[in-house]
Amino acid sequence: MRFDVLTLFPEMVRAPLSASIIGRAQAAGQVTLGVHDIREHGIGRHRTVDDTPYGGGSGMVMRCDVVADALAAVTTAHGPGKVVLFEPSGRPFDQRMAERFATEAHLVFVCGHYEGVDARFAASLGDRVEVVSIGDFVLTGGEYAALVVIDAVSRLLPGVLGNADSARVESFAPGRGLEFPQYTRPRDWEGWGVPEVLLSGNHAKIEAWRDAQSEERTARVRPDLARR
Ligand code: ADE
Repeated sequence: MRFDVLTLFPEMVRAPLSASIIGRAQAAGQVTLGVHDIREHGIGRHRTVDDTPYGGGSGMVMRCDVVADALAAVTTAHGPGKVVLFEPSGRPFDQRMAERFATEAHLVFVCGHYEGVDARFAASLGDRVEVVSIGDFVLTGGEYAALVVIDAVSRLLPGVLGNADSARVESFAPGRGLEFPQYTRPRDWEGWGVPEVLLSGNHAKIEAWRDAQSEERTARVRPDLARR
């Protein structure tokens, strides 16, 4: 799968994705990442990318012509792809959206900054763009959102996780609650033991205990999920 990220801060995106599982997925060719500096399409000698908002107000707005030029350059070089624009006003990202994105061959992420991108940019793309938020809080820009989405989508791609990982029962899988607590060695740590049932070797009992833990935790921490 190919990801292209359009950003004013390429180094914010490149470095984190070169480590760990996503770094390995790139080395193995399961994930291809292109990071593109929007400023290269800025206007004039100063490579201006933003301006003050029409109608007044604080902050700066990214220019639609600049962002559209940056997108056109990626499209010309790597094909059209589905466009995802990160804004706090977007549709909330969740596991289901990650699964849907994982079926695409090519995603192009546009990271807004400041007060976001001139609304005409998204409007001009019609059905080709989805505006996405990673949660009900405001970030300084879309870069961290792009990292979150790339991570969540990449781990769903065939071969990216080892077998041991991919077999994992996951929180947010359809119809599931939050994951049960996990334990490993040492068996006794500073007076803290491990629940006896996990040492019993009785797999039916272990599964029942984990289901109960899952249910209790979901009701306590995420009553909104428990109701679904
Ligand atoms: N840009 C600023 N805040 C954001 C959020 N919560 N999600 C996605 N992009 C953003």
